[in-house]
Amino acid sequence: MRTSLFRSAVILLATGLSTTAVRAVQNRTTIPASTLGLIPLPRNVTAYAARWKLPATIRVSANNTAEHNVGLFLQRFLKPRGITVTFAATGRGSIRLSTTANNSQLGREGYRLNISSHGAALSANTGRGLFYALQTFEQLFNPAKPSDNAIHEVSISDWPRYHWRGILLDCSRHFFPVPVVEKFIRVAAHYKLNVFHWHLTDDQGWRIQIPQYPLLTKIGAWRAGTEMHLNPHDIDHNRYGGFYTDAQIRKIVAYAQRRYVTVVPEIDIPGHCTAALAAYPWLAAAKGPFHVRETWGISNVPLSPSARTFHFLDIVFGDLVDLFPSRYIHLGGDEVSAQAMKAWEHDPAAEKIMRQRHWSAAQLHDYFPSRMARFLSARGRRAVVWNDVPAAGLPKGTVIECWNSSSIVNQDARLGHDVIVADESRLYFNFCEGDPKYVPHATGAVDTLRETYKFNPSSLLPASLRHRLLGAEGCLWAEAIATAHHLFYQLLPREMALAEISWTPLKEQHYSNFVKRTARQYLWLRANGYNFRIPLPSFHFAGTDATSTATRDPRHNALLIQSTLPTGLVRITDAVPGTVIYYTLNGSMPNAHCIRYAGPIAVKFAPGKPMVVRCVAIDSSGQSSAPAKLIIQLKSHP
Ligand code: ACM
Repeated sequence: MRTSLFRSAVILLATGLSTTAVRAVQNRTTIPASTLGLIPLPRNVTAYAARWKLPATIRVSANNTAEHNVGLFLQRFLKPRGITVTFAATGRGSIRLSTTANNSQLGREGYRLNISSHGAALSANTGRGLFYALQTFEQLFNPAKPSDNAIHEVSISDWPRYHWRGILLDCSRHFFPVPVVEKFIRVAAHYKLNVFHWHLTDDQGWRIQIPQYPLLTKIGAWRAGTEMHLNPHDIDHNRYGGFYTDAQIRKIVAYAQRRYVTVVPEIDIPGHCTAALAAYPWLAAAKGPFHVRETWGISNVPLSPSARTFHFLDIVFGDLVDLFPSRYIHLGGDEVSAQAMKAWEHDPAAEKIMRQRHWSAAQLHDYFPSRMARFLSARGRRAVVWNDVPAAGLPKGTVIECWNSSSIVNQDARLGHDVIVADESRLYFNFCEGDPKYVPHATGAVDTLRETYKFNPSSLLPASLRHRLLGAEGCLWAEAIATAHHLFYQLLPREMALAEISWTPLKEQHYSNFVKRTARQYLWLRANGYNFRIPLPSFHFAGTDATSTATRDPRHNALLIQSTLPTGLVRITDAVPGTVIYYTLNGSMPNAHCIRYAGPIAVKFAPGKPMVVRCVAIDSSGQSSAPAKLIIQLKSHP
């Protein structure tokens, strides 16, 4: 990273420059890359103290379609900052956009970004790389000050750690209209994620129009009520639903394509199909009628493997292939319960296949995805399935997405399958981010920002199989998420952590540094109308001897200390810059009227009486983090 001050001084001494030249060289003084607030942190950054102030009218050179696409985003970005862009084809603009870098190191997604006192050069081998150069360029501006158009000079070369940097949105459990989906894609692209995994069908709603089967949306897209508060006995009895028309889907795909995001649609088979069964009960391996589920529990009726079902699936996936240009199509395959498999034992079509092939009901589970994977393969597409599907029977090109078993990643990769990691204990953003008491109602399990950030997907595979890892994906299941406001609260800032672990080299990933950089991003999120959560600060305790033990308890936002001496120093770190920390020492809930943290706190505590320190971080708009808690107990000497 990193020309040093020392090096600048050596250059000065060695060259004996004139005063003007000295000033110019001094201005090449470097500053820490973290001060730029970039997320994901680029691979190689040199940042300078000097700034380039953009003029009010600027020429941008763009010569081909991809350069023009990126140029239009640039024009749109600069307009509200009072800067008018004119295009020049000569390569002589103050901002030069180039997709002809011819640099093999950058690959398909990498880029170079150089800002000097004369202008900016964004270059890549592809339009995608150039788009990522633009995302970094845009992040150099202060989002809270549209009149401040002086950006730090930088020299950046950057390319991603993983090819698959995905984010899933479940639009079945709750339906999100087109503008929300676009807003979801926009923020993903801003952080250089490149896959939008669109969960379109489930037990609680079918969300995509299939012209040959109109009842899928006429019946399957609507339910008579919705389970509230994750309590199946609490149903609101309001008709609820919605679906996307062909035209809307094409609009979303085009919106994503312009931002180099691939939309990977998922139709979940052979379980999670109740909405389809409600529309066409003959698809089922048991007798109907069926109703689109109002509660979140898993369905116990799978598809029947009849000729009529497979004709239906051919039409549905044929339509999907027409609508979505993605090379990857997701077939689901998760959570076919033991009880659902039992239904196959009594279904004539299933029973016949099992008898002829001497199969157990479990083997029918992969029969559906295997058949449809071959269907997709014949059309030049690759199937993706959840890790619940036994991989041994799947065609080799099928990709396995692992959500609930880290050992399966390894096993499936060994079988020759490419894998994507969507580990539920790290990358499920519908889970609470800390103590469920202090957050909007969400799935009860906990995935903290720190846990997401500290996750290394590559660690699930031995070095010899890492080439099988396509990348990582975050998931936002929407059982408990009914509004866009709540959706973005669950997503952010964890999506930034996902972006960084998927893009930035492992050795450059540092949680405290990341948290510092998020400050700039919250300004961007606020300026662009995104809700988000302010992460908790971290407690640290230094006892006066070395025998204290510390245990983190994310479910209660707590750090538990067992100390052998009755005094120590409490430090609070990882607060987002710009927030102020307030604390209490008596266990009561802190607010902006409590003591303001200004440095380490000396504490004393007595035997048999745990001391409870709590703190919150509050930003300039008054938005507060949830409280973090430190419990210190005096333990007797061993
Ligand atoms: C899943 O969470 N059932 C993939």
